[in-house]
Amino acid sequence: MKPRPLRDNVLAMGAVDWDRRLFDSLIPLPDGTSYNAYLVRGRDKTVLIDTVEPTMLHVLMEQLEPVAAIDYIVSHHVEQDHSGSLPQVMQKYPKAIVLCSEKAKPMLIDHLGLDAERIRIVKDGETLDLGGKTLEFIYTPWVHWPETMSSYLREDRILFSCDFFGSHVATSEIYVRDEALVLEAAKRYYAEIMMPFRATIKGNIAKVEAKPIDLIAPSHGPVYGRPALIIDAYKEWISDLPRNEAVIPYVTMHGSTAKMVERLVGALVERGVRVQQFNRAGADIGKLAMSLVDAATVVIGTPAVHVGAHPQVAYAAMLANALRPKLKFASVVGSYGWAAKPVEQIAALIPNLKVELLPPVLAKGYPRAEEFKALDGLAETIAAKHRALNLT
Ligand code: FEO
Repeated sequence: MKPRPLRDNVLAMGAVDWDRRLFDSLIPLPDGTSYNAYLVRGRDKTVLIDTVEPTMLHVLMEQLEPVAAIDYIVSHHVEQDHSGSLPQVMQKYPKAIVLCSEKAKPMLIDHLGLDAERIRIVKDGETLDLGGKTLEFIYTPWVHWPETMSSYLREDRILFSCDFFGSHVATSEIYVRDEALVLEAAKRYYAEIMMPFRATIKGNIAKVEAKPIDLIAPSHGPVYGRPALIIDAYKEWISDLPRNEAVIPYVTMHGSTAKMVERLVGALVERGVRVQQFNRAGADIGKLAMSLVDAATVVIGTPAVHVGAHPQVAYAAMLANALRPKLKFASVVGSYGWAAKPVEQIAALIPNLKVELLPPVLAKGYPRAEEFKALDGLAETIAAKHRALNLT
């Protein structure tokens, strides 16, 4: 696609990656993604904001063909989907200087081997006068690396936020049109990479919100013509209180654990708790991550494999531990053949989760009346805990 104007002398560039289905060899991308770059021309200086994933370098280079000179390249974030094409763009524009945060400079040298002489650190709040257009740099750390920053184009009231507020969506639309679709993708993106940094994000939102913003132009997904859409969604996702929801990732080998999960889900729903149930065999881990954004309780369902937890649910527990959602309660249900220690094993996998462990329910073989009663009891405990916190 050719560059498209956002405002006078502000062009949206970059590449739509319709076919990408996995990010970081971990994160499923059901709707593809984009790597957005932007070109801002002032009377005196021209700035390129970010680059693209190296696999899409040819797209950016074609867009830059008519651009005779670039004075500065803003590098908001060192991860290679935005910085990976810097070496080639710097080669094309040998006088261009890379502008980045203090923490980003050594990282750009380590990750991309850039020439230190061509990198200039900009301070938090520093401005760059392009002639009739002013870029202000805003440090927004930990969205989602330590060096991340955003920039704000004062005259056009555009916030260039890089990963912050981004969404993995491949679309031919330049602006968000289908808000529900983009919010779903943005929530998936938040869940997978932003959620561990909720506390820092709160401060970053306050910082950028202090500016009058007409457009938020992220580096993944379409541009927000209604910034409140994504800012309000982020505020809800980072809020301290979870929802009256339970998430149940589970695996079953011969149907016993599935039967227990079925009983527990029914008992929770009867008691007014919303539930999301994921059979780990084949489940989209992005959906599981999204469900953890709001959930108050996680119950892991596992059969015993060689006396321990099933590796598939151990994976889910490790993922939840890494994403550090605002869960309050956790438990384990499952069945075993002759002996089992899944509870201790799962508890050891989730040290980052500040959860109260609720009594587990384990069945030797197929569950019977005694275990069904215990599952109803677990559902009652969960519902009562949620009620006590006034979760909605
Ligand atoms: Fe889009 Fe953290 O890279």
